[in-house]
Amino acid sequence: MKGIILAAGAGSRLYPASLPISKILLPVYDKPMIYYPITTLLLAGIKDILIITSPRDIENFKNVLGDGSEIGVKFSYALQKVPKGIAESFLIAEDFIEDKPVALILGDNIFHGFGFSSMLKEVSTRKQGATIFGYQVQDPERFGVVEFDKNNKAVSLEEKPLNPKSNYAVTGLYFYDNNVVEYAKTLKPSARGELEITDLNKIYLEKNNLKVEILGRGFAWLDTGTFESLLQAANFVQSMEINTGMKIAAIEEVSCRMGNISPDKLLEISKKYKQNGYGTYLEKVAKTI
Ligand code: G1P
Repeated sequence: MKGIILAAGAGSRLYPASLPISKILLPVYDKPMIYYPITTLLLAGIKDILIITSPRDIENFKNVLGDGSEIGVKFSYALQKVPKGIAESFLIAEDFIEDKPVALILGDNIFHGFGFSSMLKEVSTRKQGATIFGYQVQDPERFGVVEFDKNNKAVSLEEKPLNPKSNYAVTGLYFYDNNVVEYAKTLKPSARGELEITDLNKIYLEKNNLKVEILGRGFAWLDTGTFESLLQAANFVQSMEINTGMKIAAIEEVSCRMGNISPDKLLEISKKYKQNGYGTYLEKVAKTI
């Protein structure tokens, strides 16, 4: 399975904080934001990842992440020159996807919770159809919204509805079979001029080929779209890391645990950060894994 991270937006809601650099490279506590979506894809067993970014930011992403070989994966890069919608990712990534299924995650979506790895492992083995994830929120009108019937079957999807039919937001993580590229080609721009991911998901829903996994209470899906929520996300990560002594989304650790690199290699990487707690942590993991 292939993976795509969409990291192309201007991040203007976080100006001036994101004026000098993509929002997706801003730190969330102790690591760049993109480490979190990378972790989600790694946990799904994905090793071939395309990062779609803007002309302004592509060199910064390459400088931070390189070709991925250091952590035993492959990163490649593509451009979305004008933000024309999330679903455009599949047109941009057509050659990259080839004949494989594909997962897409938005660069600013942070997921953390017990059981997530096993859920991702299971979802990534599905051979056909699409899987999306629903999460209960207070302000569903800000998101794609999924409505369920009595039997918890998804019956409708709406993008940022004025009168949401449920409190379940559709998160920014999507798994698709290989039909997604052809379906994306049939989409028409919405009123806001974008190829909407919700319209793409509706095609799967209409074909009775859409699964919605619920991320329940106790699960964290963090927003980083405002100054307040970015700081709250950092505080959440800090408090989890301090309480448990384990890091969230240390990509070097995750890749080692997924078998992409050896503990020796992890030890070598840890030396790069030996002047701080991140390096000490990787060193400790490498010696105990
Ligand atoms: C996008 C999608 C929306 C989804 C959200 C999740 O919204 O259009 O359906 O719920 O991501 O982060 P946007 O970031 O474009 O406001």
